Amino acid sequence: MKERFYVTTPIYYVNDEPHIGHAYTTLLADVLAGFQRIFGRDVYFLTGTDEHGQKLQDAAGRNNRPPLEYCDEMVVRFKNVWKKLGIKNDDFIRTTETRHKTVVAQILRKIYDDGEIYSDNYEGWYCIHDERFWTEKDLLNGNCPDCNRPVSKITEKNYFFKMSKYQDWLIDYIDKNPEFIQPDFRRNEVLGFLRQPLGDLCISRPKSRLSWGIELPFDKDYVCYVWFDALINYISAIGYLSDDVSFNRWWPALHLIGKDILTTHAVYWPCMLKAMGLEQPRTIFAHGWWLSGETKMSKSLGNVIKPLELADKYGVDALRYFLIREMTLGQDSTYSEESFISRYNSDLANDLGNLLSRVMKMVSSYTEGRVPAPAGDKTDSDRELEQRGSDLLDSVRNKIESFKLNQAAEDILELVRGTNRYVEMNRPWDLAKNNDMDRLSTVLYNAAESLRIVSGLLSPVMPEKCAAIRHQLGLPSDDHSLKITGWGELKPGTAVKPGDGLFPRIQKPKTETVAEAKESITELQEGLIGFEEFGKIKLRTAKVISAEKVEKADKLLKLRIDLGSEQRQIVAGVAQYYTPEQMIGKTLIVVTNLKPAKIRGIESNGMLLAAKSGKELVLVTTEGEITPGADIG
Ligand code: MSP
Repeated sequence: MKERFYVTTPIYYVNDEPHIGHAYTTLLADVLAGFQRIFGRDVYFLTGTDEHGQKLQDAAGRNNRPPLEYCDEMVVRFKNVWKKLGIKNDDFIRTTETRHKTVVAQILRKIYDDGEIYSDNYEGWYCIHDERFWTEKDLLNGNCPDCNRPVSKITEKNYFFKMSKYQDWLIDYIDKNPEFIQPDFRRNEVLGFLRQPLGDLCISRPKSRLSWGIELPFDKDYVCYVWFDALINYISAIGYLSDDVSFNRWWPALHLIGKDILTTHAVYWPCMLKAMGLEQPRTIFAHGWWLSGETKMSKSLGNVIKPLELADKYGVDALRYFLIREMTLGQDSTYSEESFISRYNSDLANDLGNLLSRVMKMVSSYTEGRVPAPAGDKTDSDRELEQRGSDLLDSVRNKIESFKLNQAAEDILELVRGTNRYVEMNRPWDLAKNNDMDRLSTVLYNAAESLRIVSGLLSPVMPEKCAAIRHQLGLPSDDHSLKITGWGELKPGTAVKPGDGLFPRIQKPKTETVAEAKESITELQEGLIGFEEFGKIKLRTAKVISAEKVEKADKLLKLRIDLGSEQRQIVAGVAQYYTPEQMIGKTLIVVTNLKPAKIRGIESNGMLLAAKSGKELVLVTTEGEITPGADIG
């Protein structure tokens, strides 16, 4: 029987725009799934979207859309990006699907009946405007940290899952199963968290506050807390409570997640599974963040890297290779265009691209376009290359099993470099000149065979480019041919099909020459800026939702603005020109990537634009109606 491999990604909030972080986790799952297929396992790869909860309800509301209609529209963006990035998931689950909702309701009913859920009064600080609870330590000067409005202490009935009773069991389970939470330092982080008393988990939201969720089967006035609902996707998708054969076939899973959602996965989810009487996930692996420069990517900082733009510019497979090769799993990594180009040029254009094109050229001109049969005695260099090629599958397998994907990619590239060195050392061009056909055939055969192995082992990372290499080598491109067996599988006599170079060099953006530097100094002196500098300023349209005077500051107004994807607070010195009432409903132009500042102790997150002449001041607005959050440039 084939061994099974079930891998999942987090289900992404459907209202977010897919960025390189989402793309990374999904790509990671895709690449692991691809390797496991090569290693002969039966694979099931699940991804999807998280579609309930406050954030979604708010986003739909801002767009004046019924939530489901809004989700239907947004989910397409994720599906399109995955398609474009060549992701081969077996399933895509949406938490608004009936197959998911019925399982969540059944689980809730079952564990409620088993006494795992109780109702109690929940006490907390509630912000009526933002419709959410805050804890004492969240508050900013006693006010809501989001909108700075006063909060009130309210008590509300809610339902709680008895998570606390599993604390000791969970600590023991984590201790006894070192594979359960990885990498090690994340396991320690979870154990550290579990040193504090574990509370019970509030799993309900009253419909009076939030209606967009799965109704509790034992109280129709409440919906289920979004995380409790979302985590269940990992089992509802594979048939829990609906298809035992499928469920037993795939569970338990390898969950790939980002470090930001470790507690929900490594604490809530194991306790939930324990209460359901189910086996624990095989492994929960938390990877680090992709940073943009030195900082985390975020919509408000305007430094989000959009995967499709990169894929369009440099090609899907180059992007896939870079992301896998560059991140040490578990650690944070920094994305920069410069490092992308360097990696691409050195590994793909110079090493791999060069090997392919020289093998194609030599086979075409020296052996009539057919892979020659090795002949004569083997030399040390032949034996060494053969050994490297034969060992590669095992070393790649070991690296993949221990989540060292960057090292696996590096091992494969080492064979490429070794083969280039082998070619240079054996100098087929001289062998051809001297008519040493035996040696020439052996050297060309070995170089081509090495490329065959490389193209097979690298195919989970770069499926399209590897298929193109295999095509040029004259190999069938069906999946069966991906089986990487030992050295010597390439059939002599195969006609090669040389094609275009696969990895044209990317020109690095020019570094400034002295003359250019002088020129830009002149520009600076003239007060001119380049387009790049201008591009650093992120301007967007924003609608004023509310406005109020700032106490004891007659020039200041505190505004709440809508940027489409989020709301923010800004403080503006316009109170002498506009009343709060005049401001409400206006569409402003706002600089969104200014560092947050405190003005009179009030946080301001952005700056509006206004024109000033003498004693007059008018706001800069748009000429016609446009949705809040539109880019300006
Ligand atoms: N909906 C929840 C997950 C529920 S799973 C039952 C959620 N969604 S999310 O849209 O915010 O996606 C979070 C995941 O996206 C992270 O855990 C991580 O896998 C990925 N990333 C988001 N930003 C990232 C980076 N900057 N870098 C790397 N990955 C990050 O949380």
